[in-house]
Amino acid sequence: MKKTIRVGLAAALTLCGTLALAQSLNVTLRGGTVDDQVAVDRNYDQMEGRIKRNYRQQPPLVPHSIAQYQIDLRTNQCLGCHDWSKAGERNAPTLSMTHYLDREGRELDQIAGTRYFCNQCHVPQANAPALVENLFQPSIGR
Ligand code: HEC
Ligand code: HEC
Repeated sequence: MKKTIRVGLAAALTLCGTLALAQSLNVTLRGGTVDDQVAVDRNYDQMEGRIKRNYRQQPPLVPHSIAQYQIDLRTNQCLGCHDWSKAGERNAPTLSMTHYLDREGRELDQIAGTRYFCNQCHVPQANAPALVENLFQPSIGR
C-alpha cells in the first residue's frame, strides 16, 4: 500500500515537472498569447504592379487582392475578368492558351478543368521576409 502511494506520488511529481517545463517552453510562433490581437503586415500588395517572372514556366504572381473573389464548383470570379471572352472589355491579361488545353492536348473554348482552381498555382504578391536564405538566380536577365 505504502509503495503504491510512493509510486503514485513520484508519477504526480514527474507530471508536474513536465507541465512546468512545457509551460516555460511555451513560445508561440506569432509572438503572442492566444487572445492577443497580433497585427500582421499587409500582405497583398496592389501597388507594385506586375512582377517579372523568374523563369519561363512560372505562374505569374497575382498583382491584386484575391480575398473577394470566390472560386468554387459553380462560380469562378477570376474568369469574369481573365477568360478570353471577358478579358478585352475588362482590360485584364487574357489566360494563356495552356489554360485551354485538356489533358490530351485538345484545345477548348472554356477553361480546362486542370486550370480551374487558379490559386493552386497563382499566389498573390506577398510582402513577407524569406523564411530561409534563397540563392535562386533567374535563368534570364543576368
Ligand atoms: C475585376 C477584374 C479582375 C478579377 C476578378 C481578377 N483579376 Fe487578375 N488581373 C486583373 C487585371 C486588370 C490585371 C493586370 C494588373 C496590372 O497589369 O497591374 C490582373 C493581373 C493578374 C495576374 C498577373 C498576370 C501577369 O502576367 O503578370 C494574375 C496571375 C491574375 N490576375 C490572377 C487572378 C486570379 C487568380 C483571380 C481570381 C482569384 C483574378 N486574377 C481575378 C483583373 C482581375
Ligand atoms: C496548374 C497551374 C495553373 C492553374 C490552375 C492556373 N494557371 Fe494561370 N498560369 C500558369 C502558368 C504556369 C502560367 C505561365 C505560363 C503559361 O502561360 O502557361 C500562367 C499564366 C497565367 C496568366 C498570364 C497569361 C499571359 O499570357 O501572360 C494569367 C492572367 C493567368 N495565368 C491567370 C489564371 C487564372 C485566372 C486561373 C484560374 C481560372 C489560372 N491562371 C489557373 C499556371 C496555372
